[in-house]
Amino acid sequence: MTQAPNRRTAVETLRWVGDERGYLVLIDQTRLPLELVERECRDVETVWEAIKELRVRGAPAIGIAAAYGVVLGLQSAALSQSSALGARLEEVIAYLAKSRPTAVNLFWALDRMRAKGTALLAQSASGNFLGGLLAEARAIHEEDRAICRAIGRYGAELLAVGGGVLTHCNAGGLATAEYGTALSVFFTCQDQGKRLHVFVDETRPLLQGARLTAWELAQRGIEATLICDNMAGQVMREGKVQAVVVGADRIAANGDTANKIGTYSVAVLAAAHGIPFYVAAPTTTFDLAIDSGEQIPIEQRSREEITHGFGRQTAPDGIAVYNPAFDVTPARLIKAIITERGVIEPVSRETIQAAIGPTKRRT
Ligand code: MRU
Repeated sequence: MTQAPNRRTAVETLRWVGDERGYLVLIDQTRLPLELVERECRDVETVWEAIKELRVRGAPAIGIAAAYGVVLGLQSAALSQSSALGARLEEVIAYLAKSRPTAVNLFWALDRMRAKGTALLAQSASGNFLGGLLAEARAIHEEDRAICRAIGRYGAELLAVGGGVLTHCNAGGLATAEYGTALSVFFTCQDQGKRLHVFVDETRPLLQGARLTAWELAQRGIEATLICDNMAGQVMREGKVQAVVVGADRIAANGDTANKIGTYSVAVLAAAHGIPFYVAAPTTTFDLAIDSGEQIPIEQRSREEITHGFGRQTAPDGIAVYNPAFDVTPARLIKAIITERGVIEPVSRETIQAAIGPTKRRT
């Protein structure tokens, strides 16, 4: 574990150190905002644990971490036979796929690593198998940087100067390769000299808004106000919010969108106040293999996150607890989806199909 350098503007959520025999380093997000600490992942099990425990979290960042995890899982020197490599590749992919269920970027990245590995083995390139896998993981990582910048540029055009904007959870640099999705829109506004005031939902129970989004906005000197989740309606009623921008973990073919628990409530409140509700997400977050949000698997997390948040008991022993980590916002509540290819508006099966095209998933 190392103390990360204090960067004022760039968040390097993940980085690979060395060649194909190297290792992954990621910011341990469970330690923020009090400590900026990096964690070294030298085997696939450590990557799996980091994803499961939300040391690395946010849909695109989970996908990038898993891609590097595949490289780590294939580093075993004993594997020289092509058939053994193929079997191990499948084993590592199946293992990582069980870390978290909702963010589709995880499965997208694993599918891409499988396709790369299979192609390398078919070319009898097993000599450079690991190097080829690392190149693919690095490509996924680099592409996400560019994707985030493009989302920011498209999204910034939608926001008015001087307006109030509300976000939920963390869809920032920490959740992606570098610049974020929803937060990339705010960062781009700042780059363009367009002033905004961001209202940050604290995001119970794990406080990604308070711990991570508030931290990222403070790092960049963006005006922000932290509110409890149950205050969003009040700030909207007071006329302080002119738009909502959130990220996404999985978007179904009809536009229904899974994101952090509480997002659906914000969308309902936005509709009640006539405030546009935008989703900012890369095309890698679309899952056109599923028809609607009904089919999105929702992660259930431990009761202790609610009864013993951050180590302190706040509920009586034995109380029943329900702790879904995500909810689904129906497409009808979403004004537009901001992607790296442009803005999808209105949100419908047809407009999504036209923007994204056909996709296939195996994992
Ligand atoms: O449980 P988390 O912290 O991984 O949930 C993250 C979110 O819901 C984000 O809003 C989403 O992944 C978009 S990240 C660009």
